[in-house]
Amino acid sequence: MSTAEDALANSTSDASLARSKARSAQIDLAIDEDPSKFRILTGDRPTGHLHLGHYFGTLRNRVLLQDRGVETWVLVADYQVITDRDGVGPIRERVLGLVADYLAAGIDPERSTIFNHSAIPALNQLMLPFLSLVTESELHRNPTVKSELEATNGRAMTGLMLTYPVHQAADILFCKANLVPVGQDQLPHLEQARVIAQRFDKRYGRADADRPVFPRPEALLSETPLLLGTDGQKMSKSRGNTIELGMSADETARILKKAKTDAERVITYDPQGRPEVANLLMLASLASGRSPEEIAEGIGDRGAGALKALVTEALNEMLAPMRARRGELMADEAHLLDVLRAGNARAAEQAEATLDEVRRAMRMDY
Ligand code: TRP
Repeated sequence: MSTAEDALANSTSDASLARSKARSAQIDLAIDEDPSKFRILTGDRPTGHLHLGHYFGTLRNRVLLQDRGVETWVLVADYQVITDRDGVGPIRERVLGLVADYLAAGIDPERSTIFNHSAIPALNQLMLPFLSLVTESELHRNPTVKSELEATNGRAMTGLMLTYPVHQAADILFCKANLVPVGQDQLPHLEQARVIAQRFDKRYGRADADRPVFPRPEALLSETPLLLGTDGQKMSKSRGNTIELGMSADETARILKKAKTDAERVITYDPQGRPEVANLLMLASLASGRSPEEIAEGIGDRGAGALKALVTEALNEMLAPMRARRGELMADEAHLLDVLRAGNARAAEQAEATLDEVRRAMRMDY
């Protein structure tokens, strides 16, 4: 195996994870020194509404990075919807809902570029040369693709599912992003993108070129602990155990009232022994900025009812301005479409420029 392939196969090992975490801490300091050295690309599949897991896991972090002065590109990954399902679902509503979530959370379309796959032909075209740089067995070994396929309950692997990490490399590389804020599960995709960038330059880079065509993108791992759903299981829309950003305060209260806890009356923060209670404390902590231990102490023997009331209030208070803004945005479809069209125009220009560079490097610029 080449070094690059080794790295790809090992990108989820413990040692590699520790390295990625250490590197993320270094990058964080480098951003403070000079945010203009970085360009961020992140994205979401428009398969449902964003919930608290998305917000605390990535969205809040993206807004902070944008506000620290890092140029930010946000992709509505509409072609990625059909990797593991038969149709696109209510795609228009979901795409506009996602744009509204972004804006409501604080993504500023003046500074950041919000765009979608299917509007950017030159981005999608990068997939062709990129596919020639990876092998089929390498794609079959991608741990994230493997586990996503398992989660589909025995569906056959489609060509798009197998190759979507390559498409995702095009997402990152078309705009020359060098930083991708992701969760651990996406690390193999980042490694794949680096391998593609490296192989492209090795194969097509000109000796006289003073810089490579593509940067080597790095992951920026977020600090947020894994949040559970309100039933203590993995948070997922289909389980009905999530709190969506767009839900009302009453719906939020209703879901939290039904949240699973345990029989112990005194509230303590014990993620191993009392995962459901710890999860509620973590939500309250993320929403209020106080530590989970401190919140637990404040509740003491007033029990799960008091804990739920506190979480509900903390979340509803934090979400209120975002929800109000989201409501206004959803009522103004023309504005959401304008934002997306402006972002798409910017992204298309960048994608054309990159594709031109790729054609030149490949001597296909007749
Ligand atoms: N796969 C990502 C997810 O499911 C979404 C995504 C698409 C993405 N393209 C990307 C994330 C490029 C980071 C970079 O959340």
